[in-house]
Amino acid sequence: MHWNQINFNNFIFTIYNCERSEFNKYIMANKPDNKRKKYRAPRGTSDYLPKRAAQLHYLDSQAAEIFERYGYRRIITPTFEDTDLFSRSIGESSDIVRKEMYTFNDKAGRSLTLRPEATAPVVRAYIEHKLHSEIKPVKLYYIGSMFRYERPQAGRYREFWQLGVEALGSPKPLIDAEVIVLLVDYLKSLALNDLVLHIGSMGDDKCRLPYTKKLRQELEPKAEAMCPDCQQRLKLNPLRVFDCKNKVCRAIIAEAPKITDNLCDECANHLVQVEKGIIGAGIKYQLDPTLVRGFDYYTRTTFEVRSPLLGAQSALGGGGRYDNLIAEYGGPATPAIGFALGMERVLLALEAEQVKLDIEISPDLFVAVVDNTDRPEAFRILTDLRRYGLAAEMDYMARSLRSQMKLADKLGSEFVIILGPDELKSGRVAIKNMATGAERKVSLDQIADSIKNLKSEPKGE
Ligand code: HAM
Repeated sequence: MHWNQINFNNFIFTIYNCERSEFNKYIMANKPDNKRKKYRAPRGTSDYLPKRAAQLHYLDSQAAEIFERYGYRRIITPTFEDTDLFSRSIGESSDIVRKEMYTFNDKAGRSLTLRPEATAPVVRAYIEHKLHSEIKPVKLYYIGSMFRYERPQAGRYREFWQLGVEALGSPKPLIDAEVIVLLVDYLKSLALNDLVLHIGSMGDDKCRLPYTKKLRQELEPKAEAMCPDCQQRLKLNPLRVFDCKNKVCRAIIAEAPKITDNLCDECANHLVQVEKGIIGAGIKYQLDPTLVRGFDYYTRTTFEVRSPLLGAQSALGGGGRYDNLIAEYGGPATPAIGFALGMERVLLALEAEQVKLDIEISPDLFVAVVDNTDRPEAFRILTDLRRYGLAAEMDYMARSLRSQMKLADKLGSEFVIILGPDELKSGRVAIKNMATGAERKVSLDQIADSIKNLKSEPKGE
């Protein structure tokens, strides 16, 4: 465990276990020079300011539209779960469980972990709420932030956002194809083009064990030349060696037997059927015999979509089948498959492909005033317009009329009205189109309808 993690655990532990006064004492005792201290977001986390937050929101709303078109319904699970939910499913030998979990004890001494991924929580919820009695496959999707204590770098964070789907209940290869096509179609709907889809298989209980034995036998005599991580992997789970980036290890592993050449007939046939489904959907892919993903729960199909433009952290999303997991948690034997994609990485890929997300939020109308005393009336009109469905703004900083016009322009407001004593007296106001300068006089109670009509007119008129 890294000292930072110990610190984090201790801190949470202390917060939960202190009486209020003791807590205050703790804060005072650990208080640095508060006048000088500049707080920053914790390492590996980010503030998503409105522009970035709007981009993430766009990814979410686009996903909701497409995932729901494919029949998936949203599920929301807690941000933290019992620690062993993750250690059992992800696997004791995985990097996530060995080094990356944010684990802490609560007041009652329970070991809890901030979710590093959402498949295990969805499976837990599926069993807990007996979703297996629903129409199968049960198709669910989620969005949420995940937590992994990784070394931060571009595309790799300690808190990051995932969008994912899980289809629970069908063993058929066509549902694998559906999930994979959904992942690719979603990314394409964002106008991403430079994508490479990798498909592999992890085999099942019948063929993976003999293959693992064969791989270990092949690699053990060469273990001394391999990196310490791979030596450890050989002991715990030899398949993980395929994840190694070390040059020497890679050269040794290149000669090793591949799982796709060692599948039993059922797994080999399953893979062929999945490929047929993907080809039928017109999607190109690479069969990747070295695609082993960092979780113990996978069986048969695995897949990953990568962006060649993203360097080391190139995986935008990935997933696979996990036919044993639900039974391992005490639920009815239920085959399942899903994927998750990293939303920050998708944004990085969009930037790398120079795709602009057209999500600037600007008002339809800016209500300017000539005289400060007209502001309450302007506010009343503004509120009516908003209630009517228009995005409307006014100034709250006592700006001059000239500055209000500049502000309207800066905000990108499409139209402006100027309320002055004349307008309020006559009950008529000019709606000014900021792009063309054209004006149209309307009565005060027709502003909203007029703007809706103006907005629906073809541009340039
Ligand atoms: P995963 O490959 O660990 O799979 O994560 C999915 C995606 O999350 C990755 O492809 C990547 O884009 C993003 N991601 C992972 N770690 C980080 C990080 N530290 N910083 C930024 N982005 C990251 C899973 O989580 C499985 N639960 C997927 C799944 C669903 N398998 C079956 N169902």
